[in-house]
Amino acid sequence: MHAGRETTGRSRGSSPLAPPISTAAVHVYDDLDDYDAVARGERRGHYYGRNSNENREMLERAVAELEGAEAGLAAASGMAALYLAILALAPKPTTIVATRELYGGTMNLLRQDLEPAGYEAHFVDIGDLDAVRRALDGAGLVLIETITNPLCGVADIEAIARMARDRGVRVLVDNTFATPILCRPLELGADLVMHSATKYIGGHSDLLAGVVVGGSELISAARARSVRTGATLGPFDAWLALRGLRTLEVRMARHTENALILARALSTTQGVSKVHHPLLEGSPWAAVARRILPQGAGGMMAFDLEGGRAAVQRMISRFQMAAFAASLGGVETTISYPEITSHRSLSPGERADLGVTPGTVRVSVGIEAADDIVADFMQAIAS
Ligand SMILES: Cc1ncc(COP(=O)(O)O)c(C=O)c1O
Repeated sequence: MHAGRETTGRSRGSSPLAPPISTAAVHVYDDLDDYDAVARGERRGHYYGRNSNENREMLERAVAELEGAEAGLAAASGMAALYLAILALAPKPTTIVATRELYGGTMNLLRQDLEPAGYEAHFVDIGDLDAVRRALDGAGLVLIETITNPLCGVADIEAIARMARDRGVRVLVDNTFATPILCRPLELGADLVMHSATKYIGGHSDLLAGVVVGGSELISAARARSVRTGATLGPFDAWLALRGLRTLEVRMARHTENALILARALSTTQGVSKVHHPLLEGSPWAAVARRILPQGAGGMMAFDLEGGRAAVQRMISRFQMAAFAASLGGVETTISYPEITSHRSLSPGERADLGVTPGTVRVSVGIEAADDIVADFMQAIAS
């Protein structure tokens, strides 16, 4: 709730409870030595907005605190944070072992930017720890999502980090779906953790931001790149993300509860052939989810609708409350259709291999009343 809040001003009288937004692109100094000390990092302060900003710094401190990290860096989007994190961990071309079921944008980054630059991406089934172990030999980095997109598998971060550490391989975790409320991957052995703060951290679908957290040295390396490339988060989005963060814990509790209720309801609904939720009875991910996500598996789930794309279109046009929108993590229930959104760059064969069918719908279950959410899906599917 209070992470990242500045408290030192209180003894001097009063300070604003909600932080002001500092829009200054540059700070004025009347003493060259002062500027020099700030620029060298010997004194706290700001001089140019691409290097640092008060609101960005508050967000960085808050997410770092929640994740149990030494330091944090906020960036212009989740993808910017991911790119900076990869380059901090693997500045030279190496093999990156990644989960097969990866956010489509991350897959594109690996294939279209990093592979042409000499990196090699090796995709593995994250549930097959023997395959992960084999792939780690000779690799430089492993990139995993705590909860995978879109079918909600759960990575055994603890086991993977142990195998990686034994082989000198760095570990980067995309913790966007779980948030630090449900999982703190650094405690499980990760080197860096990143978030698309556009999703649950912001929580209201009104900003784009990313955050990467971890040890001070790695974050300094990522920050230096952010300054050089200008992957900077603006003050207003940083302010919004921090405001979102204040309610993250209560939102996540409600998202988590609602998602399981909806998953259970859909699992007995005619016309639904499969439901993907790691804690649903019979899920292959249940054991690892209980260990890695002891407080629940969050607000994401997916299901397969019989009748493919036409049936999905019919359902969308009947929704009274839920909406089709290609993002997630907001307070409203939204659905995404991976075939044309997050996984559109994959071939039909690649999607089929992952288990993403023309009837697969991903749901970001909101914080509305659970009965209303279930009723909306039931009436829309019954049509
Ligand atoms: C798991 C995951 N990681 C990263 C990203 C990228 O985040 P952004 O859109 O903020 O760049 C997304 C976006 O959908 C995502 O779902």
